[in-house]
Amino acid sequence: MFHKVEEVLSDDFIGKEVSLRGWIYRKRRMGKIIFVVLRDSSDIIQCVVEKKKIGSEKFKELDKVGVESSIILSGSVRKEARAPTGYEIDVNTIDIIGPSYMFPITKDKSDDFLLDNRHLWLRSREMNAILKIRHTVFGAIHDYFRETGYYEVQGPIFVTGAVEGGSTLFEVPYFGRKAYLTQSAQFYLETFIFSLEKVYTIAPSFRAEKSRTRRHLTEYWHAEAEAAWYHNDDMMKDEEELIVQIIQRVLDERRRELEFLNRDIKILENIEKPFIRMKYGELIEFAQNEGIDIEYGDDLGADEETAITVKFDKPIFVTHYPASIKPFYHRPDPENPEVVLCHDMLAPEGYGEIIGGGERIYKLDVLIQRMEEEGLNPENYYWYVDLRKYGSVPHAGFGLGVDRLVWWLAGLSHIKYAIPYPRTIRRTKP
Ligand code: 4AD
Ligand code: MG
Repeated sequence: MFHKVEEVLSDDFIGKEVSLRGWIYRKRRMGKIIFVVLRDSSDIIQCVVEKKKIGSEKFKELDKVGVESSIILSGSVRKEARAPTGYEIDVNTIDIIGPSYMFPITKDKSDDFLLDNRHLWLRSREMNAILKIRHTVFGAIHDYFRETGYYEVQGPIFVTGAVEGGSTLFEVPYFGRKAYLTQSAQFYLETFIFSLEKVYTIAPSFRAEKSRTRRHLTEYWHAEAEAAWYHNDDMMKDEEELIVQIIQRVLDERRRELEFLNRDIKILENIEKPFIRMKYGELIEFAQNEGIDIEYGDDLGADEETAITVKFDKPIFVTHYPASIKPFYHRPDPENPEVVLCHDMLAPEGYGEIIGGGERIYKLDVLIQRMEEEGLNPENYYWYVDLRKYGSVPHAGFGLGVDRLVWWLAGLSHIKYAIPYPRTIRRTKP
């Protein structure tokens, strides 16, 4: 039976014989002893290999191979304060399964080199920690929705129209016609609510983003939800609960990984409901008072969001944006149709928008009017328009950028570290 490294890093195992399998993380020879640091998916442990114990053949073989060779070994556990994780293995047997020579990733490689070699860099302790946090975040999103009456559904990826405006659409040839990669599952989610009422999906979305910022990918993971009978505030409450539950789960399950990444955990621990709520107009005033060059009616760019959100230590909901800077589907505020009943959730600490959502137009005439104002042909959206013809209901939804959430929670400098295979304007490999 094999143990995981993290299991044997414990006083309960002192003096016990264990078998481990994994990869050589570090290796150093001192005369007739080789120190191997073994890593598996769970952690690392130092292993002491003595020539007299394993024989000179094996010793020679081990001496020759490089880091990242895969090995199986057995030996007894002892406490060793000088070892990197506080324990070490006194090795009795060792087998090299897949040798590795000259692993390309060595110390002090450039960021681009590491990105070109992501397929190998995934093995790093940094990526291992980030991938585990990501795993926990995805699991927590599914659990939240499934425990609160949302059904999971799937929309298509090939679509025929824009959701978030035409400028970031990826066009793909489609048997002599044109198709696009979806920017958001929202419109399809709206179709499902007439059957299931509350629905969600976690799927890739695509944006032909020409901007090179630390928060834009061309392909990202989008957790989206839509609920019948919901108004803007109802949806914001669900989002708050979702984010709080994700943070709690990450703190429970991934504290070690956050510490490894030097995340300031206190900030996450202090995040509580309710989040800050501000109307767009108030946010602009706040920004102006902070000396940020912005006027009412301007969209918030990445720089403005950073400058504003560094001033906060919990998420901020920004509501009531001017209709002119939001897509056509947002429901105008009946009290002031110049603004829409929408919200963005901005992550604090300079991270900025992680959620975009709001209430949808549910009256047919209003929708047609807004489409015409935006120069859209309702015929291209016939199925979306149909929803307003046959038993329409008030409804609201949102989209959460999961990579952005991981980026913030893990405290990373750039979103490309939050996703295993980032796709950006310059990168489609590996
Ligand atoms: O604000 P967005 O564009 O809203 C929508 O797509 C809505 N249709 C969602 C809905 O209501 N169902 O995108 C939603 C979120 C953003 O807040 C952001 O977190 C993320 O998706 N996002 C990106 N993440 C990474 N790279 C990009 N280029 C992103 N564009 C949006
Ligand atoms: Mg948005």
